[in-house]
Amino acid sequence: MTAHFNTGRVRSGECAASKPTTRDLEWAAGFYEGEGAISRGDDPSFQISIVQNNPEPLTRVFAMFGGRRPYIYRPAKGNRKDCWRWYASGVRARGIALIEDCSQAHLAEYRERKVGTFGDLGCFSLQQSKQITCGDGGLTLVNRDDLIERASLFVDKGRSRAMGRVHLFLGQNYRMTELQGAVARAQLEKGVRLIEARRKAADALSARVRHIAGIVVPEVSVGTRPSWWLYNWVIEEAKLGVSADDFCDALSVEGVPAGRQYLPRPLFEEDVIAKRNTFGRSGYPFSAVDYTLPTRADFPGLEEFFRRQIILSWNSRLSSKDIDDTAHAVGKVLAATTRVSRLSNEF
Ligand SMILES: Cc1ncc(COP(=O)(O)O)c(C=O)c1O
Repeated sequence: MTAHFNTGRVRSGECAASKPTTRDLEWAAGFYEGEGAISRGDDPSFQISIVQNNPEPLTRVFAMFGGRRPYIYRPAKGNRKDCWRWYASGVRARGIALIEDCSQAHLAEYRERKVGTFGDLGCFSLQQSKQITCGDGGLTLVNRDDLIERASLFVDKGRSRAMGRVHLFLGQNYRMTELQGAVARAQLEKGVRLIEARRKAADALSARVRHIAGIVVPEVSVGTRPSWWLYNWVIEEAKLGVSADDFCDALSVEGVPAGRQYLPRPLFEEDVIAKRNTFGRSGYPFSAVDYTLPTRADFPGLEEFFRRQIILSWNSRLSSKDIDDTAHAVGKVLAATTRVSRLSNEF
């Protein structure tokens, strides 16, 4: 999420905020990618809202962007438990540009609407590991008429071909070749089928292992349809007497490609960000703004997520036999680890 602060008129019941810092925006973007569920209504009732069980992040969003102070709210449909809601509407909401990073969520849905269509721009990766691919590169949905021309100029170094060799602003050289474009179009046509196959396989595996005490499968929330780039799950280590690392190693020995930690460390701890190893010694772009390096404490739950996450690589060709084999391997590993922990308790 990128946010541009707008000091326009504020509706009654809403409040303006002081100008958010780069650190605030960075936190908001991380929060949205990790946890946020953002929806925005259409004009004229234009508003952007976030609904959460925990009021704390919303209070922080309120302090940064103003809008309505977080309040207790009961959703009209779906999960009917009380939760917390923040929103900004009208002029204020227009001041917040939403860029959806749905790089690996092709055709995923939230409340019967495809992701990538909520924001001003929606970005999808077509890199080779993704649900659909053309080798590399990606697709951007431009959902605002006033941004279409600018977006197409941006991928072509800001060069206006209509005006000759004129560069209107600084852009990237992200042009896709005709060959890649042809592959991407063919993949788009197959997309629905490929993603349905991923969904079917994920549902089948969850149905097979959900009942096992200590296994926590990725439940699909009401109103959502994921597109399953990966199958991400966790185990209750204390209950099972086995660490996530050992459990994964044992699954891998059984031929199930289970992995740990998608990233070895949070991106902000990489030298490129932490030591500003960017362009020569310039430190740019960090040196150009009031950038302060975040810490792990800024992202509650991050450490636990890193420690517990178990990843199964997923694809559209998983057969019912693959699901059987995976479920069988889980049962076998758990039976063995339970035996080992019982034996070690006896000695
Ligand atoms: C959330 C997210 N955004 C962006 C990307 C980068 O996509 P690409 O490799 O096409 O640049 C990735 C890569 O996996 C990703 O996970």
